[in-house]
Amino acid sequence: MTYDFTTLMDRHGWDAVAVDGLGAGGGAPEPPRAGYDFIPMWVADMNFPVLPSITEAIGARLQQPHFGYFDPRPEYFDRIISWQHDRNKVEGLEPAHIGYENGVLGGVVSTIEAFTAPGDTVLVHSPTYIGFTKSIENAGRHIELSPLKQDENGVWRMDFDDMEKRLSERRIHAAVFCSPHNPCGRVWERWEIERAMQLYKQYDCVVVSDEIWSDIILPGQQHIPTQSVSEDARERTVAFYAPSKTFNLAGLVGSYHIIYNDYLRDRVTAQSSKCHYNEMNVLSMHALIGAYGTEGRIWVDELCQVIEGNIDWACRFIEAHVPGVTVARPQGTYMLFLDCTQWCDEHGCDVSEVLHRGWEVGVGWQDGRPFHGPCHIRMNLALPLSSVQEAFQRLESHVFVD
Ligand SMILES: Cc1ncc(COP(=O)(O)O)c(C=O)c1O
Repeated sequence: MTYDFTTLMDRHGWDAVAVDGLGAGGGAPEPPRAGYDFIPMWVADMNFPVLPSITEAIGARLQQPHFGYFDPRPEYFDRIISWQHDRNKVEGLEPAHIGYENGVLGGVVSTIEAFTAPGDTVLVHSPTYIGFTKSIENAGRHIELSPLKQDENGVWRMDFDDMEKRLSERRIHAAVFCSPHNPCGRVWERWEIERAMQLYKQYDCVVVSDEIWSDIILPGQQHIPTQSVSEDARERTVAFYAPSKTFNLAGLVGSYHIIYNDYLRDRVTAQSSKCHYNEMNVLSMHALIGAYGTEGRIWVDELCQVIEGNIDWACRFIEAHVPGVTVARPQGTYMLFLDCTQWCDEHGCDVSEVLHRGWEVGVGWQDGRPFHGPCHIRMNLALPLSSVQEAFQRLESHVFVD
């Protein structure tokens, strides 16, 4: 490995909710009991030191002691275009199609607000990233959930009949599509995206495609941008990306949209500009330029290998040592979505009890119920393998015991 994915960083006192936001309620883990250190496995950020070319790019900009109003540099757009070309095989992307967004969720809300009215319904799959639920409901729209189903091999799949029924019966014209899927870890195959997009075409839906996880793809998988599956998909989809998930830059803020259709883009940017808060930060622009270079490509490839190693280790451990807990092996993202149904049934307890027992011994995992997993726990594996191993050993000794 060229880069460091083994150092155990101490983020305490240095602006990290993952380690300093314990006991805050709202789903945050409780602090561990005496004798246990805390292993952060909840908030979707990473415990790896950032790619050095990012801090170098920020450092170089800090040498220029002026931070006034600015326009994004041409390199900002060039880097995004070449990144999308090299990673996602995107052709024909131009600076005019790209627009800054403070956050992907902000972009999701701007799009929903641009194309629906309060009280309208938006189609979303379940399990569901909790941020979608909160932001769509806060915007006063209803969510119609179409459940993903696990096939005979345990792979999460869209249920196209169910989607069609809901689209037609509820007269829905807006959908949020999460690709890769958080929390299920699916990297959708081309035929799956094609079929979903055919339905969205048939029922005339604007599609919000959240592709924030599109760089965290396990070896052997390929991310297919929603806009690439057909000319119609290109025209009806508002897609969101960010270096924040990929490079651990959420605290710097900075995402972007890709919208090819002029009408869609005008409506989204009209909506997102109205709050006057959707403006780029100069350091986050330099962070993206530092991230989306040659070193960034190497770093992400290594990151994905490390995550694959962690996922393989964890899945094997669960299979061998934790009977009654099942997990579909993720193909992307760094999240495990543990199904504890059988274990809880056999041990006469509920998932809260399991969750709390984990927190007591410092395993900072996350309740899966707000993600619509009825007896599920979400676990972030973006940390050194030694920490993942320590967490699972604690779970075996103290949590999943008879
Ligand atoms: C699917 C998905 N979308 C959006 C976000 C948040 O993005 P942002 O911080 O850019 O709003 C997350 C964070 O975990 C996510 O998992």
